[in-house]
Amino acid sequence: MANSSTEIAIACVHRGTFIHSTWETPLQILEDALLGVGEDGKIAFIGEGKDVKQLSQKFGFIPSEVNQLAQNEFFMPGMVDTHIHASQYSYAGTALDLPLLKWLETYTFPVEAQFDNLEFARQVYTQVVKRTLRNGTTSACYFATIHTDATLLLGQLANDFGQRALVGKVCMDLNDSVKSYKETSKNSEAETGRFIRELLQKQYPLVRPVVTPRFAVTCTEPLLKRLAAIAQNNNVHIQSHISETVEEVQLVKRLFPDSASYTDVYNKCNLLTNKTVMAHGCYLSDKELAVFRETGTSLAHCPNSNISLCSGLLDVRNALKHKVKVGLGTDVAGGYSASMLDAVRRTLDTSKVLTMQNPKHETLTFEEVFRLATLGGSQALSLDDKTGNFQVGKDFDALRVNVTVPGGPIDLIQPKEPKVLLEKFLNLGDDRNIVEVFVAGRKVVPFTE
Ligand code: GUN
Ligand code: ZN
Repeated sequence: MANSSTEIAIACVHRGTFIHSTWETPLQILEDALLGVGEDGKIAFIGEGKDVKQLSQKFGFIPSEVNQLAQNEFFMPGMVDTHIHASQYSYAGTALDLPLLKWLETYTFPVEAQFDNLEFARQVYTQVVKRTLRNGTTSACYFATIHTDATLLLGQLANDFGQRALVGKVCMDLNDSVKSYKETSKNSEAETGRFIRELLQKQYPLVRPVVTPRFAVTCTEPLLKRLAAIAQNNNVHIQSHISETVEEVQLVKRLFPDSASYTDVYNKCNLLTNKTVMAHGCYLSDKELAVFRETGTSLAHCPNSNISLCSGLLDVRNALKHKVKVGLGTDVAGGYSASMLDAVRRTLDTSKVLTMQNPKHETLTFEEVFRLATLGGSQALSLDDKTGNFQVGKDFDALRVNVTVPGGPIDLIQPKEPKVLLEKFLNLGDDRNIVEVFVAGRKVVPFTE
């Protein structure tokens, strides 16, 4: 379609209900709206259905070619998984009977060590990218393993299937439990450099490298410092874990006696930046949260994992009160579900448990959690200039949701307003309700191959 008012041609126009968040309101509902997507995959305009004629003249599209949503359908922004271990997907749903440090030694490291086999990596990584896309994850922040070539393959697969992704080669120069699964400090640094170079050379439009020290328990201080320098020199993201369990916090205290806190360990190594996302943070003090705020570091809240490994409960309300950026993460396979809908539900459950423990705790609303899963996640990954909500100029990352899809999990006895449709979908829906997924304007679900 031609576009008379601007240079960008309109690729398609959708008409119906759009539900998204802004920073002013966690739930904005646009009924009978028109949204045009340019050939560049960006949102070109948002208007009202009643103005279709004028809009079609202004933007140069044909009204009869507008894609009309059906009753009980709506568009919402794609969800952002701010923390997921792609390499742990093969055992998701199992091995949840040990606390974190024993869990890592017993289940995680032996599995991750197998990713020196590129065929195994291809199998697992193909499945996890497809599964998350189908479940509405349009952006994912992935941990891979210490293996550079397998991690590059994960980047290639995310690109091939059209997912927006931050992809991290894991760094760890300490590990006494599984001897084959660690690097020398020199190698870790050199391979991180090679990973970033080779991934950037591919020029995938939606895939970026993220510097990934596993956590302070498996990285020496010199390595942490060198990784921070690499991230700074390449202006790339950083991800790690922090304050997930009491035992881990105590161990870090013993390993880094000169640091005032776990946060201080990373801060002293220059790892806390406005492109850093730290997973968990269950035991951060208010002082540490203030450092997160000052440095622009964000938190990936991973409630399924926090509960499944009996790690702890993050008080998201308190983090938000400290103006810390917060997104949601599945943390597969500490979290057993790869679906962000599960992360939404477990976030609400956790908040309700905190209210049971302290009636003064201000429970998160489903609208706020919807925002955390979309706009909040995009902000936590510093991608909010590109994705997270429906704003002209952002990429069209969206889910077409049909609440009453035939054979689906939701029964509607009477017609419901859009807010109720969203709440039903968040609490009861699954991938059957997600009938189409778009990333940067491209339809990536249903799969074409
Ligand atoms: N801390 C360090 N590594 C990991 C991991 O793989 N999963 C979780 N949940 N926590 C970690
Ligand atoms: Zn994790």
